[in-house]
Amino acid sequence: MNIHIFDHEEQLYKEAARRIIDLVQDHPKAVLGLATGSSPLGVYKELIKSFQNHHVTFEQVTAFNLDEYVGIPSDHPQSYQTFMRNVLFHHLNIDLNNTYIPCGNKEIIEDEIKRYDKLLSAHAIDLQLLGIGTNGHIGFNEPGTPFDCLTHVVKLDSRTRKDNARFFDHLDSVPTHAITMGIDSIMKAKEIVLIATGEKKASAVKAMIRGPIDPIIPASILQKHPNVHIYLDHQSAKDL
Ligand code: F6R
Repeated sequence: MNIHIFDHEEQLYKEAARRIIDLVQDHPKAVLGLATGSSPLGVYKELIKSFQNHHVTFEQVTAFNLDEYVGIPSDHPQSYQTFMRNVLFHHLNIDLNNTYIPCGNKEIIEDEIKRYDKLLSAHAIDLQLLGIGTNGHIGFNEPGTPFDCLTHVVKLDSRTRKDNARFFDHLDSVPTHAITMGIDSIMKAKEIVLIATGEKKASAVKAMIRGPIDPIIPASILQKHPNVHIYLDHQSAKDL
């Protein structure tokens, strides 16, 4: 694991974004794996800045997102579809037809699982961007998820729902289930960039890097990935 610890968050996001920008400059048809939540926001700002300054173009890039809530419409203000359009896609020249986010419509979920896995097996992800949950989840692969799983529906951990309640009016409004890319697909990415900031991530970060490889901390499997870069600030790295 390549661990990068930064004094200033701004530098952290710049350096993490640099990996994506370099990749897309060298491989304009790169396939990116993207995440939602707070962790990637600084990286997305850097990508947008770089695009606006004509340093990089996303015209031919394909993007796969990790996950989506089940049971809220895709145009809901807190859906990950809405999030990605608002914070990234609408600010780049990426072709929306080349952006994939699993659909959380309950009625078609079994077909959606098959469709997403089929798409993932047809596209090798060059770089997967990740955050980490305070419980050690990656994507919405919650503690106990087998490392070899593919796309599946997950019942969200109570801790995950509490952590994400900040985006909703009330804890009861946070969906109880999500559809997520499996750990097996995440591990197939050629390169992984994980971002964690703030003290509340410190114990998950320690378990991911120093703990045993155990499904109880899904992110611990990243110790086995040959090309993983972990970007931390001093607060999230404080227990290492
Ligand atoms: C988001 C995702 C999650 C988040 C994690 C951290 O698509 O899959 O694993 O990365 O919950 O969330 P933040 O960054 O909001 O602390």
